[in-house]
Amino acid sequence: MRRVFPLLAASLLLLLAAAGAPVAQGHNITKILAANPDFSTFNHYLTITHLASEINRRLTITVLAVDNSGMADLLAKHLSVLTLHNVLALHILTDYYGAKKLHQLTGGSTLASSVFQSSGHAPGTTGYINITDHRAGKVTFAVEDSGGASPVSFVKSVKEMPYNISVLQVSTILSSPEAEAPVAAPAPVNLTALMTNKGCKAFADLLLARRDVLQIFQDNLDSGLTVFCPDDAAVKAFAPKYKNLTADGKASLLLYHGVPVYYSAQLLKANNGVVNTLATDGSNKNFNYTVQNDGTDITLKTHIVTATITSTLIDQDPDAVYAINKVLQPRELFKLAEVVDAPAPAPAGSKKAKHGAKHASPPAPAGPEEAPADQAASDNAAFTAGAAGRWLVTTAASLAAAVVVIV
Ligand SMILES: *[C@@H]1O[C@H](CO)[C@@H](O)[C@H](O)[C@H]1NC(C)=O
Ligand SMILES: *[C@@H]1O[C@H](CO)[C@@H](O)[C@H](O)[C@H]1NC(C)=O
Ligand SMILES: *[C@@H]1O[C@H](CO)[C@@H](O)[C@H](O)[C@H]1NC(C)=O
Ligand SMILES: *[C@@H]1O[C@H](CO)[C@@H](O)[C@H](O)[C@H]1NC(C)=O
Ligand SMILES: *[C@@H]1O[C@H](CO)[C@@H](O)[C@H](O)[C@H]1NC(C)=O
Ligand SMILES: *[C@@H]1O[C@H](CO)[C@@H](O)[C@H](O)[C@H]1NC(C)=O
Repeated sequence: MRRVFPLLAASLLLLLAAAGAPVAQGHNITKILAANPDFSTFNHYLTITHLASEINRRLTITVLAVDNSGMADLLAKHLSVLTLHNVLALHILTDYYGAKKLHQLTGGSTLASSVFQSSGHAPGTTGYINITDHRAGKVTFAVEDSGGASPVSFVKSVKEMPYNISVLQVSTILSSPEAEAPVAAPAPVNLTALMTNKGCKAFADLLLARRDVLQIFQDNLDSGLTVFCPDDAAVKAFAPKYKNLTADGKASLLLYHGVPVYYSAQLLKANNGVVNTLATDGSNKNFNYTVQNDGTDITLKTHIVTATITSTLIDQDPDAVYAINKVLQPRELFKLAEVVDAPAPAPAGSKKAKHGAKHASPPAPAGPEEAPADQAASDNAAFTAGAAGRWLVTTAASLAAAVVVIV
């Protein structure tokens, strides 16, 4: 059975690569490092550079931590946060290396891919780390293909949770001229200007009329945000209903169009499942919907309406904005009876359309898209926070099982 583990790790990596931006909540690097004050500076900068969340959402990861004096040498270079991000990204390996594995490398060395490599900012192979197990038992890490970068030594294992996360202490910072190259700051996204210029002017105007709500969207731009903006025709058609909402209802409806997680188009295509929204935060209601592929289309199903993504306004980590062809109406604000654009009215007495006994959901419209079995399938595929881990692990486990059978 021992061989299952590397296979499982490999399957997970494949899945993660396929998913583009894995979303699992297995570990918390901030918490792990907080147990040791020697790593407080390193820990702080993982948070500042957003690498901590990058680490947390990956399932199989190794972090090469340096102590405070090692970090002091790096900080003395006065690099920008964006450059620090690239240097520290060299310290995050996208595979699992426990202390034991370091001493069992086939042929005495291996090339490990770092997050700097997968970021696309590393020229050539300069984002790979050469790990060498020397004859005397000393293990070193060196940036590949980078003239002048000297290797650093393995000091000790800090934390190992086999095949999920390994934190190893290394002697000093790993760096390279490529990682330290100045990075141009990306222009900050102006959501309303972007929407105004690309077919969602009416929705942008609704946001501009509610600065408090717009602020919540803007507060999420740095940490990850996906916005689905209804096009101008959709907002126009919805105007009478919008006017009817209370001030709170309007705020919830607008926030319902934002998801506090960055979903690339690739990730939306690769996954079907339930997402929570900005309206969910600070509310005791769900305000969720199901992302579901329908042929080449990506649809959003609220149970009241099904909207389709019609174009991408921006898709650049950590933000994405997509145009949709309908205003998303949450179950929490609209009753099924008010639906004017459902595919077909529910047939009388379709009580069997209830989704399981404990849900008091209204009967689903009779359209084939909203069939109960369909809904059950998409509920199972939920890829919100915790569910994502389960989905990946379940899928990975079946994949690993399949591989084991073949081997
Ligand atoms: C991780 O742990 C830190 C410190 O214990 C805590 O403040 C933070 O909220 C946690 N993050 C997540 C995503 O759970
Ligand atoms: C790692 O570097 C050492 C020393 O330069 C070299 O001998 C070895 O072939 C490299 N390993 C890999 C996998 O590239
Ligand atoms: C690794 O993560 C999986 C899924 O989150 C969990 O079931 C398992 O217990 C974790 N392993 C360790 C050693 O923490
Ligand atoms: C963003 O665009 C809006 C117009 O949609 C404009 O009023 C606002 O000043 C811009 N904000 C910034 C920070 O440039
Ligand atoms: C607005 O609310 C009133 C009173 O609840 C209702 O009669 C009317 O149909 C609603 N209009 C729309 C467009 O939903
Ligand atoms: C989504 O919301 C519905 C009710 O509106 C709730 O029953 C369901 O559990 C929620 N799903 C998730 C994954 O949060």
